[in-house]
Parts: sequence; structure tokens; C-alpha cells
Amino acid sequence: MKKEPFSFDLTTPGFIPSHYDNHIQRKLSNMKGQYLNHEAYEAMLSEKDLLLYQVYELERPQIEGELLHGISIVHPGKVGNEFFMTKGHYHTVIDTAEIYYTLKGQGYMVMETPEGDCAVEELKAGSILYVPPRWAHRSVNTSSEENLVMFFAYPGNAGHDYGTIETQGFRKLVVEKDGKPEIVDNPRWALPEVG
Ligand code: F6R
Ligand code: ZN
Repeated sequence: MKKEPFSFDLTTPGFIPSHYDNHIQRKLSNMKGQYLNHEAYEAMLSEKDLLLYQVYELERPQIEGELLHGISIVHPGKVGNEFFMTKGHYHTVIDTAEIYYTLKGQGYMVMETPEGDCAVEELKAGSILYVPPRWAHRSVNTSSEENLVMFFAYPGNAGHDYGTIETQGFRKLVVEKDGKPEIVDNPRWALPEVG
């Protein structure tokens, strides 16, 4: 791993970094139980295990003082009427923040705290989103044709807690209604039990 300063470019049109260490691909089969409409999920999965999103990571030591960073790309699509989205997570070290810069596309970042506060912020090309410590986060692509592409950076020691969201879901869902995105309450949501 480099000790010296380094830079990389984002190659267009895909915004794939000219240099990266890890390429994570999340498919429909990795999202079991995450979409509200289980029947629509199973029906889609039986046809094809679609690629929903990808992350290109630059590897850094997972210690305080380092910044983990990379590019996340959420593809367009829906399961039932719910837009394609990331799994979403708390950081294991819960008092660590994250910053996102949207490069392309449109969508929402759905966020919440263990205390049950929630927030949904719009994502659009050129906008910067600050996710404060303690806020779980999930990105949602609301475009019908474009990728949602974001640069992200967060502390090296943050870690990821997916389990809480897998069990409880997020408090808000982003669905399509009358051809437009709408933020609705998640009927399955319950107050999480994290520290
Ligand atoms: C890192 C972070 C992003 C996500 C990426 C994929 O802390 O928030 O890099 O990891 O958007 O989402 P998840 O990790 O929820 O599958
Ligand atoms: Zn994160």
C-alpha cells in the first residue's frame, strides 16, 4: 500500500477509477428480505440475478487517521415499486461520519439513528452530502435509466454493521407512485437495538 501521496482519475463515461483495489458487486440475491414486496423480489430473482450496485474501493489501512474512499454506482431499476438501493449500514464505530459527492444521476440518501430519528436527502449531480456520526445510510437510485454515481470517503476505523438494518429495515422507503419517487413509511420498521 502506498505511503506517498497519490491521485487517480475517473474515466468517463462510467466514472470507473483509473486505479482501484477492490471491486464489490452486489446482486439481487444479496438483498434477500430487504425489499418490502417479497413476491416481486422472488419473481425477479427467478428470472435473473441482476447486478444492483457496484463499489470500487481504494484500499487503505483500517485505522483512525486514514480515509477509506471510492466510487459507488447504483444501477436503475425497481423491485415492485421500490427503487434499487444499497443494503445500507451503520458504521461499527458508530461515531464515525461519511461524506458523499454525487457525480451523476439522481436519488436519495435514506438515513436514521439508533434513537429513531430519520432524514432523507436528495442526491443530484454536483451535490455533496455529509452523513454525521451515528446515522445509518442507504443510497437509492430514482432514475429509470441513469446510474447513480457517488464518490465517498469515511474514517479508516469505521467498519460496517449490516445486521441491524438487515433485521429492522430503514424507517423510510423510496417508492415510485404515479411515475414519481415518493418517500413512505416502512410498515416493517421497528426501533433498532444498537449502542
Ligand atoms: C462506506 C459506504 C459506502 C457503501 C456503498 C455500498 O461506509 O457507506 O461506500 O459501502 O455505498 O453500500 P453498502 O455498503 O450499504 O452495501
Ligand atoms: Zn458508510
